[in-house]
Amino acid sequence: MKGLILSGGKGTRLRPLTFTRAKQLIPIANKPVLFRVIEAIRDAGIDEVGIVIGDTGDEIRQAVGAGSQWGVNITYIPQSAPLGLAHAVKISQEFLGDDRFVMFLGDNVIQGGISPLISQFADSDWNSQIVLTQVDEPEHYGVAELDEQQQIVRLVEKPRVPPSNLALVGIYMFDHHIFEAVNAIQPSWRGELEITDAIQWLVDHGRRVFPYIHNGWWIDTGKSSDMLAANDRVLAEICYEVNGYVDRDSKIDHLVTVEAGAEIINSVVRGPTIIGEGCRIVNSYVGPFTSIHNQTVIENSEIEHSIVLDNSHIRDVPSRIVDSIIGREVEVTVSPIKPKAYKMTLGDNSKVGLL
Ligand code: DAU
Repeated sequence: MKGLILSGGKGTRLRPLTFTRAKQLIPIANKPVLFRVIEAIRDAGIDEVGIVIGDTGDEIRQAVGAGSQWGVNITYIPQSAPLGLAHAVKISQEFLGDDRFVMFLGDNVIQGGISPLISQFADSDWNSQIVLTQVDEPEHYGVAELDEQQQIVRLVEKPRVPPSNLALVGIYMFDHHIFEAVNAIQPSWRGELEITDAIQWLVDHGRRVFPYIHNGWWIDTGKSSDMLAANDRVLAEICYEVNGYVDRDSKIDHLVTVEAGAEIINSVVRGPTIIGEGCRIVNSYVGPFTSIHNQTVIENSEIEHSIVLDNSHIRDVPSRIVDSIIGREVEVTVSPIKPKAYKMTLGDNSKVGLL
């Protein structure tokens, strides 16, 4: 089997972070979501992987390279514009050939990996397998309607009135019949060639499409609140290890990872939390469910349930920072310069919640 990862698209719902970075490269528990997707595919025994890239392609090529760090071969497949998930399959036909393949959306995070799913599909004569899971707001996803025998009756993309609460997870398995489908369908109302319509086409033309119900957690990291939710889930499941320096005046619990070169000085860190390489946490409190990415400094401040990206500085902040996502090379500090006022340089689409 081959793997196909979709890493194009615009990531508009994650602005301002995605003005300067591909959304699939934003780290969750200090590792980009895209790297987690590559690992899941590699762990399922697949070593030929195509990545569909768009405007942010150069950044993705630079971060992922040829795939040798994961022991896989990466082929990049440029997409001229984000014309839909089925369009991404269409342009990948030369790479995929007649092989069965798994398509994984580069912004999805799923509990437990995909190895059982892949071996089930690889050994079957099914034309496709899709993954479904129960969600609270199905109208934001592709939604499936099943009959009493748990067979697919209908699939609809982001329906106003959802026929069930079973959302399509961004992991799909196909054989070469999918190319007939993606070539036959028309763009949807949002102008995209929808993979949901292509799978419906397979069902309507008598192809065998099997639904697999996933019972663990799954998060599409499309919005900031989803990034924090994914960070919570992943942090709760990583292996914790302390490779950095923790001084005698600091307290950290057993759910904390301190990466190499990081220093915790006179501070309290409660897990699950990860402190990245070269960070300095000084006279501060870092609360549960927080990821501090590499080379960031937190001094005389308190933060919890947040993500801070690399090379940022948080210094002397008088109130605790919570539920926040802070980008790269950001400075949050108290200014001694009069007048006493909030002074900000915020990028487009930033959000600040003041006391
Ligand atoms: O996350 C699951 C959902 O993903 C499914 O329930 C929906 O049925 C499916 O259509 C998809 O919906 P989204 O609206 O969340 O897809 P999004 O536009 O966010 O794209 C998903 C990933 O695919 C993202 O990493 C960007 C990439 N992509 C997207 C498009 C439209 C491409 O590489 N090329 C594209 O043309």
